[in-house]
Amino acid sequence: MNEPSVTVATGGTTETLKKFRPGLEGVVAAETALSHVDGTRGVLLIGGYPVEEIAPQAAFEEVVHLLWQGTRATEREVASLRQALAAQRALPAATVALLERVAAARKSPMDALRIAAGTLDLDAPDKEWDGLALRLVARMPTVVATYWRLLHGLTPVEPDAGLGDTANYLYMLTGEMPEDAKVRGLETYLNTVSDHGLNASTFAARVIIATQSDLVSAIVGAIGALKGPLHGGAPGPALDMVFEIGRPEAAEAYLRAKLERGERLMGFGHRVYKVRDPRAEVLAAAAAEMFAADVAGQELYGLAKSVEATAIRLLEEYKPGRRLQTNVEFFTALLLHGLGLESALFTPTFAVGRTVGWIAHCREQMATNRLIRPEARYVGPVYTTW
Ligand code: ACO
Repeated sequence: MNEPSVTVATGGTTETLKKFRPGLEGVVAAETALSHVDGTRGVLLIGGYPVEEIAPQAAFEEVVHLLWQGTRATEREVASLRQALAAQRALPAATVALLERVAAARKSPMDALRIAAGTLDLDAPDKEWDGLALRLVARMPTVVATYWRLLHGLTPVEPDAGLGDTANYLYMLTGEMPEDAKVRGLETYLNTVSDHGLNASTFAARVIIATQSDLVSAIVGAIGALKGPLHGGAPGPALDMVFEIGRPEAAEAYLRAKLERGERLMGFGHRVYKVRDPRAEVLAAAAAEMFAADVAGQELYGLAKSVEATAIRLLEEYKPGRRLQTNVEFFTALLLHGLGLESALFTPTFAVGRTVGWIAHCREQMATNRLIRPEARYVGPVYTTW
């Protein structure tokens, strides 16, 4: 990028002042063939396919293959990937022992995932990338489900090699065989969030791997970045907000009071999308399908739609011209709630889906690696003697 530069004097020295972009907004810091985010037109392509097409139709394993190999998998390739993932789901004994200790300390599921993810290579041969990538994708759901059960005083459920990755995740969480509709709902969610350009957690992963560190370190760093409410931590608070509002007529007063206090509405606004996040549409449709045969669910869905409409109207009133629209997190909350997941599981489940993209980005970064090392502009004092 050719930015104008200015020469200024600081403390007697003269230096060239480069353009500072807070939050790296608008800065292109990587080239990627993995996903394309067009925030003006509301388009998301995953592996070249529109999210509306791929997310509700593909199996999770097909998305893994697409992002890792760059091609659509044949039936044989899907079967073989499914088998390879199923074979790696069991956690190292030391990871389980660690999770027991973490559960005793009552840490949040997201903290437990960060702590345990760092141990998922305990039984992996050194520097063996493909096997480690499989282990990570196969084991993230096992960590979340195992920890969830330990935290609630339940015995962890062993993975079932006869089930696909998504069905097995639900099975390990609940101990019950999941209904097909729920598996499809979760699979649509995991596919939807599998990759999304240079979002904060993916950028964190790329920065770490670019130092020629290791894949596990990159994933642990990405989990840390995902946890924050400005990134992956928003769906829990978004659902709480819908429940607190309770009925459509209460939405306006509730949301107005929040905005008057200068608070942010969780599930709205996006750094890149200035129109409705296309993922919101996909997840809203999946939630509607899930709630089709459930009266209480339909009521909640109706309430959420009305909260969404009021929120967008008020955001335009309070932040005119900012074009704050619904993001992925609002309907994530509704869909995952409909699947029977408690809100503390929302962000860890996001991590389960996004791990595929993190790994794909790390591989892409390493293919043409250059250390990611921006500069900072010094704005502190300059002394001449100690
Ligand atoms: N509610 C109220 N006001 C908002 C919101 C919101 N959700 N989002 C942005 N704004 C306001 C800001 O206060 C700011 O107003 P100001 O200029 O008067 O100070 C203006 O809109 C622009 O906001 P920025 O912070 O510059 O926007 P940015 O691009 O940094 O933020 C973000 C994007 C972090 C997602 C923001 O919209 C937000 O905080 N949303 C709520 C949290 C959320 O939903 N997070 C999930 C994001 S999706 C994901 O990462 C998977």
